[in-house]
Amino acid sequence: MDDKRVAVGWDTRTWSRFHHIWLRDHCRCSECFHPTTKQRLVNTFEIPPDLQPLHVESKVDGLQVTWPSTTPHVSFYPWSWLRRNSYDPPIQNTETEKILWGSKIEQSPPTVKFEEVMTEEGPGLFKWLQNIDKFGFCFVSDVPVTPEATEKLAERVGFIRETQYGKFWEFTSDLSKGDTAYTTLALGAHTDNTYFTDPCGLQLFHLLSHTDGTGGATLLVDGFYVASLVKELHPEMYDLLSRVPIPAHAAGEHESLYRPSPPSGYPVLGHDLVTGELTQVRWNNDDRSVMRKLEAGLVEDWYNAIRTWHSCLTSPDSEYWIQLTPGTAVIINNHRVLHGRSAFNGKRRMCGAYIGMDEFQSKLAVLSEKFVHNIDLRVPEEKTHQPTRSVWSPYL
Ligand SMILES: [Fe+2]
Ligand SMILES: [Zn+2]
Repeated sequence: MDDKRVAVGWDTRTWSRFHHIWLRDHCRCSECFHPTTKQRLVNTFEIPPDLQPLHVESKVDGLQVTWPSTTPHVSFYPWSWLRRNSYDPPIQNTETEKILWGSKIEQSPPTVKFEEVMTEEGPGLFKWLQNIDKFGFCFVSDVPVTPEATEKLAERVGFIRETQYGKFWEFTSDLSKGDTAYTTLALGAHTDNTYFTDPCGLQLFHLLSHTDGTGGATLLVDGFYVASLVKELHPEMYDLLSRVPIPAHAAGEHESLYRPSPPSGYPVLGHDLVTGELTQVRWNNDDRSVMRKLEAGLVEDWYNAIRTWHSCLTSPDSEYWIQLTPGTAVIINNHRVLHGRSAFNGKRRMCGAYIGMDEFQSKLAVLSEKFVHNIDLRVPEEKTHQPTRSVWSPYL
């Protein structure tokens, strides 16, 4: 402890330091933090910048700090909460580990059964969402071959995101939406909605029938895996893919003209600003607009970088091809896994939906509170006797 911070020792070698102002600002007593709405009540700007605790005490369950004021204010912080939120030094949390994959994923692709997913807020639904989180995609088997059942499946994650293609969509290959997706042409690996400010988070689709023809295999590629290859082989190209924004458009229909905001667009690879971790892949070479903001000195280097990206993306080691059949739906994290298909003939009926990334993250967090961080984080609320979220939830 010094005049600015409290030090907490985890073992003989590991310590975390917490500033007094930080601790006071994060008090979670019911006067400082609304126990139901989980919103800050403490007036941050009334905390004296040079605040010192009157008393600091190590309890069995956590740290108790008494602050000076007309009536002394007592704050309590559970050890597990302090450790999870340690910023000096940051302590790595091992919450979800992403599993990067290439073509060999075909040996055991993540799959869950329709029936388990449809059980109310149960472990089957959690397993499905965890698979999507870890692998960036997951199959669902034994889905009734109807748009109605597929729509119910999508709604297990969250409400459907409506776009210019509709809400829950169903189509046959007839070029009805002014986009190559509605033709029988082959489509290279791409993410959807590069022309949106916030591309849809998840895409679910289900082949309902394919008659009088062949082809139309589904292609999945792990964008995070491909990015890791490029980073390893050509770090300078990885850097360009992370820096150069790409404008895009959806302009095949007369009544709409979509472009991202800001109009310069976003780079192929997006990262967490603090951790530097790769968080988003955006790539659809077909939907690119004019590269009018590209720095003259970078033109050749940037084309070389996307050439390398394309070649890693289309290498047999990266591509996972699967011939989907009616009854198996697939859900894809559109911020990570690219999809495509081979050309086909005959008549295909597909249905599916987009779901926002926020809806997915929300449902995953709720189920993690329930199944991972379990009941001791939940305290009974006095008024309603209904279980309520703990103020110590790791997501607050
Ligand atoms: Fe697509
Ligand atoms: Zn308080």
